[in-house]
Amino acid sequence: MANSQRKILVTSALPYANGPIHLGHMLEYIQTDIWSRFQKMRGHECHYICADDAHGTPIMLKAQQLGMAPEEMIAKVNVEHQQDFADFKVAFDNYHSTHSDENRALASEIYLKLRDGGYIKSKTISQLFDPEKSMFLPDRFVKGTCPKCKSEDQYGDNCDSCGATYSPTELINPRSAVSGATPVMKDTEHFFFDLPAFEGMLKEWTRSGALQSEMANKLDEWFEQGLQQWDITRDAPYFGFEIPDAPGKYFYVWLDAPIGYMGSFKNFCDKRGNINFDEFWAKDSSAEVYHFIGKDIVYFHSLFWPAMLHGAGYRQPSSVYAHGYVTVNGAKMSKSKGTFIKARTYLDHLDPEYLRYYYAAKLSARIDDLDLNLEDFAQRVNSDLVGKLVNLASRTAGFITKRFDGKLATVADKSLIDSFLAKQDLIAELFETREYGKAMREIMALADIANGFVADAAPWQLVKQDDKQEEAHQVCSNALNLFRILVTYLKPVLPRLAKDVEAFFKMELTWDGLSADLSGHEIAEFKPMMQRVELDKVAAMVEASKENLQATAEPVKAGPLADDPISPTISYEDFAKIDLRVALIKKAEAVPEADKLLKLQLDIGGEVRQVFAGIKSAYNPEDLEGKLTVMVANLAPRKMRFGMSEGMVLAAGPGGKDLFVLEPHEGAKPGMRVK
Ligand code: MSP
Ligand code: ZN
Repeated sequence: MANSQRKILVTSALPYANGPIHLGHMLEYIQTDIWSRFQKMRGHECHYICADDAHGTPIMLKAQQLGMAPEEMIAKVNVEHQQDFADFKVAFDNYHSTHSDENRALASEIYLKLRDGGYIKSKTISQLFDPEKSMFLPDRFVKGTCPKCKSEDQYGDNCDSCGATYSPTELINPRSAVSGATPVMKDTEHFFFDLPAFEGMLKEWTRSGALQSEMANKLDEWFEQGLQQWDITRDAPYFGFEIPDAPGKYFYVWLDAPIGYMGSFKNFCDKRGNINFDEFWAKDSSAEVYHFIGKDIVYFHSLFWPAMLHGAGYRQPSSVYAHGYVTVNGAKMSKSKGTFIKARTYLDHLDPEYLRYYYAAKLSARIDDLDLNLEDFAQRVNSDLVGKLVNLASRTAGFITKRFDGKLATVADKSLIDSFLAKQDLIAELFETREYGKAMREIMALADIANGFVADAAPWQLVKQDDKQEEAHQVCSNALNLFRILVTYLKPVLPRLAKDVEAFFKMELTWDGLSADLSGHEIAEFKPMMQRVELDKVAAMVEASKENLQATAEPVKAGPLADDPISPTISYEDFAKIDLRVALIKKAEAVPEADKLLKLQLDIGGEVRQVFAGIKSAYNPEDLEGKLTVMVANLAPRKMRFGMSEGMVLAAGPGGKDLFVLEPHEGAKPGMRVK
């Protein structure tokens, strides 16, 4: 393939800085990383850029919850994210943050250009406001009863139960999810980006042919529904960038998030010194810019973002590539099933290249969802990578080292090698068009052929016969030539394995070097390169993901059922995790500094636990001593201001005087299990 050097900037979506990377995210970073590594291997100038998305209400509130400044929290998360990516061999050329000087400068510049172009409109709107927290509430932070189906406890933007979408003001009995207060309506002036003004330009961009057909269809639907003005303002308190000409107002996180692609790239250019920012972003740029994203954020990337760029005098993305969502074992990732697997938990148990290969094997250029079936995962990796690929070398390399001086023969019959090399353009085309699954199938079909050849030739038998030595040398050398070609094809997917194979061949694996002549080439001693996936490690990972479960801290208010609906159901397994024991209250005393708490010493038969219980309003401490109660004995100990609390006492009632400690009787003994 005659390939003149291309200049390519490629990005993955910027992960939010309020949570850990999980295996759903990893699909995108692995997909993009494979593409970027492939482009580099083909000799193109390709820069893979990313950053943390550090702004917005959820991040502000999460930091508050943790008692940290948002800057401190996002700095910590940034380090964790980068470590997760590095360990999955995702090789960004730059990883930055949207909360950066570069991004602030670019966001201001773009906003001011849009304003001067007449694309920013101001309007007074009325929005739900939390009077207790003194803040406007984003849709997701209002809960209430669905106006359509009357399901309780639904978010302000859509109903989980019937799927209806609505505005938070339509909710029945709305509550602030932040404080529990009833929100009130309040006026505020907001700025809107005039998206409808870009309809012509967006239609043209859509028809340029570079978009996935599913995305082009989606865009047509949106055009038909009519484009809307986009609210880009949030009121203080907000963690983000203040709008230059409107103190106290902030850019909505989704305004500066995509600009973060540019901000991170600017940071990269400044660090490197020899890459020109404008060459990639100027209106007349001949470089290519691609954004890899998930299907949930297509609207932002295919409408707002190209329009903003256009309005501010920049080029549009060459394309936006969306992928589907990861499910695990056929269902949405679930914390209770242990299938909400964090990148770190995976890395604690399994080789990252297993997942890279599995995702590659299942990816296409379409927006389909992708199921990570853990049994299929183990089976596929073991069969393809261990059974077919690495086995080729492990069955032949030893003979070269032991019998042939570690040197490869001149392969006399090159027909197999030639047939493998003949696939290079097809495989390159499949990588280029993101049809990785098809590429993996082509490569594994070749691996089957190579294994068939070795099995038929049976070098382990040839080496035992004096007159078959040359033939054995031929077979093993041929097999290793084929192995080298296959690993070169797989290098974008399996960089760690490729590195080990490079050490084994004592040479770099490059696309240009695919047809190198290995006659007389010396190889290193073969070392095991990949272990089989062990199912008990997969099970341990799932188990550990269950333990990672963190209860969401939402205040539960007691009261009659109507005000306090039964919580979502839990599985029997969830229930069985709770160890309830009969406890004898040996000692109870008031905690002077806390007006609600009593400090209890609870005897659970051979062990005494200290527990702080919020029942002072209902009991005198001395009345409790000698009573039996029920406690949660396996609750993780919690450090409180007054000391450790090593469990939880069960009580019922709305609170205040009406609070009743559960008292077992009829022969209950401390330590007995409550079922
Ligand atoms: N911060 C925004 C993106 C801003 S880009 C200017 C965001 N962050 S995210 O952390 O929620 O998601 C990051 C990427 O991971 C998105 O492209 C999203 O689609 C993808 N995924 C998150 N969960 C996923 C799955 N379960 N499966 C596949 N991709 C998923 O959105
Ligand atoms: Zn509903």
